[in-house]
Amino acid sequence: MKWLILLSLIYYLSDVEGLKVLVCFPLPVKSLSILGQGAVRHLMEAGHDVTYITVYPLKLQAKNFRQIDISSNVALVAKDETLTMGYVLNHKLERNHPYQIQEFAQEAVRMTLNHENVKKLLEDPNVHFDVIITDLMESEVYTGLAVLYNCPMVWLYSMGAHWQVLRMIDVASNPAYDPDYLSPNMPPFTFAQRVEELWSRIYWQYLKTFYTQPEERRIYEAVFGPLMAKRGRALPDYEDVMYNASLVFANEHDATRNRLSTPQNFKYIGGFHIEEPVKPLPKDLQELIDNSKHGVIYFSMGSFLKSNSLPRKLVMELLQMFGELKQTVIWKFEDNSLQDVPKNVHIVNWAPQPSILAHPNVRMFISHGGQLSSLEAIHFGKPVIGVPVFFDQFTNIFKAERNGYALRVPLSHNLPKDLKPAITTMLTDDRYAKKAKELSALYHDRLTKPGPALVYWVEHVVRTRGAPHLRSPALHVPLYQRLYLDLLAIILTIVSTFMLLLMKICKKKTNVKRNDRKKTN
Ligand SMILES: *[C@@H]1O[C@H](CO)[C@@H](O)[C@H](O)[C@H]1NC(C)=O
Repeated sequence: MKWLILLSLIYYLSDVEGLKVLVCFPLPVKSLSILGQGAVRHLMEAGHDVTYITVYPLKLQAKNFRQIDISSNVALVAKDETLTMGYVLNHKLERNHPYQIQEFAQEAVRMTLNHENVKKLLEDPNVHFDVIITDLMESEVYTGLAVLYNCPMVWLYSMGAHWQVLRMIDVASNPAYDPDYLSPNMPPFTFAQRVEELWSRIYWQYLKTFYTQPEERRIYEAVFGPLMAKRGRALPDYEDVMYNASLVFANEHDATRNRLSTPQNFKYIGGFHIEEPVKPLPKDLQELIDNSKHGVIYFSMGSFLKSNSLPRKLVMELLQMFGELKQTVIWKFEDNSLQDVPKNVHIVNWAPQPSILAHPNVRMFISHGGQLSSLEAIHFGKPVIGVPVFFDQFTNIFKAERNGYALRVPLSHNLPKDLKPAITTMLTDDRYAKKAKELSALYHDRLTKPGPALVYWVEHVVRTRGAPHLRSPALHVPLYQRLYLDLLAIILTIVSTFMLLLMKICKKKTNVKRNDRKKTN
């Protein structure tokens, strides 16, 4: 009996332990790969077997780890000068064009699924997976992976709750209070902003429906059709599987406030990419920060935007302005050719950002406001001076501003002059630092840390064969039914028929009367 219990226990545990997980992060965007890396790390620590499709391969060798190198995908961004700060500075890009992003995601799909290494993996009949975790960014073709391996699909969304991701598992949230992630608007909206948000939603949907999705369907059928045929199975219709994900992970936390209501299979795991405890600082940085009497200002525009696309004159003016400060400035700048760098300014090509932000001597973070940097600022409780450039950076900084721990400075040729007063305000007014600490406390006050939560939900999805009990009933109710347009149509038909009849009867009566009058005449 004892043995039986033990055996069944082992069987039950082995049901979830040592899962075979495919983690897929196909976009050539470094910050996204940091999320992929975080998922890989947590899953491997929990004893699972991970295969990782990545543009930025890890230097990691382990028995339960296999890597599919798609680093050639960087070609997609390498030559695109519109994605640099220098370009944005001179062209005043206010809002990215949605079609540009849809096309970008689709090109990445094409490159990834046709990549030799990926093809080799997909064509191998001996490979099986228990669950797929894929980055979701403007394209859903990867859903074919779950079809091929006949296992549940989990999307990992790099941003927070937002209509574009909610529509995949529930319904798109209302544009009256949910701005587009490319939008400069923050709720509560004015009338004009509300109309603008509705319009951008309709426009996005129009592009998706008539241009992007037909092409995605074609790719899905061309890639997965033959693979499925080889395994003797029929390929299900694209739209039946597109909306069939078991779970969505979102990279956000309650502390950022103003969150939308979300369905049960939408899980917030914001901050899971941050290692705890943070890695120790390199010796030189540790000494530098320890010995900065007046504190440290950390300046980094993230991993995607390269500071060296900024005009030389602007860079020199920034250096001069930083030189006038008492604080030490650590500037992540990918160029070693700077001359006459002031004594208090320390240039680094690469920065161990979490370890720097964790240091109590660091007083503020000058940031582009990317989602990861924004989360790290809250995680470590540091106030922010935001210089948003594109994508979701505006929304993130607007939110941080509204939450009271950030100031915003526009990216312009005037940046050095505009930054100076913002830095002075941050140094003299401690409300920003206090607010950052307060939100940080809120952020850390949770039932489970985000990493273990990620692992738990992945295991839960596999254990419950796709977690059908978490699915939203709204997903399969079409828009016309949700808005009761059919009922409205019936009411309008009845009312108009009734009116028509009434009009006819009235006409007849007046005609009869007229005829009567004629007769008497
Ligand atoms: C949808 O997902 C569930 C759970 O993963 C799976 O059992 C089902 O076969 C999927 N449906 C289609 C059409 O692929």
